[in-house]
Amino acid sequence: MPLARAVTHTLVGLEPRRVEVEAHLQDQVPAFTIVGLVDRACQEAKERVRSGIASAELEWPGRRIIVNLAPAALRKEGSAFDLPIALAILAASRQIPADALACHAMTGELALDGRLRPVGGVLAVAEGARQAGLARLLCPPESCAEAALAGVEPLPIRHLAEAVAYLRGERDPPPYVPGNGHLPAPPVPDLADVRGQERARRALELAAAGGHNLLLAGPPGTGKTMLARRLPGILPTLSDSEAMEVTRIHSVAGLLHPGRPLITVPPFRAPHHSASMPAIVGGGPGPRPGEATLAHRGVLLLDELPEFPRPALEALRQPLEDGLVSIARVSGQAIFPARFQLIGTMNLCGCGGRGDPAAACSCSPQRLASFRDKLSKALLDRFDLVVTVPRPRANELAAGASEASGPVAERVQAARQRLAGDPPRRKETASELLDRAVERLPLSGRGRARVARVSRTIAALAGSDEVLPEHVAEALAYRSPRELSVT
Ligand SMILES: Nc1ncnc2c1ncn2[C@@H]1O[C@H](COP(=O)(O)OP(=O)(O)OP(=O)(O)O)[C@@H](O)[C@H]1O
Ligand SMILES: [Mg+2]
Repeated sequence: MPLARAVTHTLVGLEPRRVEVEAHLQDQVPAFTIVGLVDRACQEAKERVRSGIASAELEWPGRRIIVNLAPAALRKEGSAFDLPIALAILAASRQIPADALACHAMTGELALDGRLRPVGGVLAVAEGARQAGLARLLCPPESCAEAALAGVEPLPIRHLAEAVAYLRGERDPPPYVPGNGHLPAPPVPDLADVRGQERARRALELAAAGGHNLLLAGPPGTGKTMLARRLPGILPTLSDSEAMEVTRIHSVAGLLHPGRPLITVPPFRAPHHSASMPAIVGGGPGPRPGEATLAHRGVLLLDELPEFPRPALEALRQPLEDGLVSIARVSGQAIFPARFQLIGTMNLCGCGGRGDPAAACSCSPQRLASFRDKLSKALLDRFDLVVTVPRPRANELAAGASEASGPVAERVQAARQRLAGDPPRRKETASELLDRAVERLPLSGRGRARVARVSRTIAALAGSDEVLPEHVAEALAYRSPRELSVT
């Protein structure tokens, strides 16, 4: 019977699901139909596959072709089905052996000239192949390093004709060489460039050591953005399991660099304030991971926090608390991990003059109030550390280089180890101080828990086995800057 089947995987959220691509040739008027809940890009595979097969100098069957992507109830999106569709048609028309097709997984988009183009999500597709017991994956050369991470053998295919020659047993593709063409991580800016701002630098170090959320507020041009961009340089690298988790997310988003298949450093995402709510928390058809998920196990910088659309900011409240984003759809719920550290920067008022003794603020009380309204108390409550960044003095700006990121990163690493092993315990006197602060400031329940966590980080950075009252006092000082009046 002129029927053939190819196996690939599609993604539901970040999880691979098996998809069987069946091609059936019928003795009827020539036509080409793709069924199985496919989206537009997938429908357009018809044109790419037809041109690809012609360009590879293979025969297009002059019969009615039906391609079914099963299971029919699962939505299929994108162009990664091009290669399996083309190969299933070629197997159904006896141009390649069907049993050779059955023992391989495959993914890739076809160009009109038959070349293979890379697609997103190859790591998860390769993981699906491994779970399905398929040891070899036919994929574009750019995706091989990514596929190899999943423990399958990638076969680099540049052109449809190469896949056909291989499956016919005529010619093997060039072997994949691990580590070939891997690039070093790009350089990150160094803290040595930042003059003065001792308090903000200290808060940045605490944020790195404890994974705390940090808000830098102050007049324009004082180094807030500069400081925030230097956080990645003092964060420890990811553990092996974290690296795979982060890499899978970035693979799905199609953001992996072919020269750096495994992401080993915490991701740093800085979306522009014009970003929409789905772009930040995830959504759209699919749905797709947003910036909050792309920043998983790393840093999300919202530079100029009050300029972001309020719904986008409010939507971040759930991931900030639970470490995940859940997107409800009629067809079900998608859950994306989103355990990131939030860094915000902002001015203290609309004109930017507030907090700068040399420049008077020209905002009317109404303008000040509407500026404050842009950020909810609930969002501000989620920042563990709030620091004001004043204008650096002339002598600070003229001074030599400050402490570089290297030694700071070492202290951060040591503190993280202490926190992961035997974290400092709070002394009785320290707890009393915390309780008094709950009444005096006042602190919310969340605020109290966050101050407790920050004080533990402060103790760990100081190399202390106990959380002392002075550690709690410093943590409290980051909760209540006068200029912002957040408690
Ligand atoms: N403390 C500092 N040390 C060294 N350079 C600084 C400092 N503050 C500002 N600069 C210089 O000023 C430039 C602007 O700083 P930055 O973008 O960090 O300001 P900002 O506080 O984010 O301002 P805005 O509120 O306008 O966004 C930097 O690129 C740097 O050259
Ligand atoms: Mg800035």
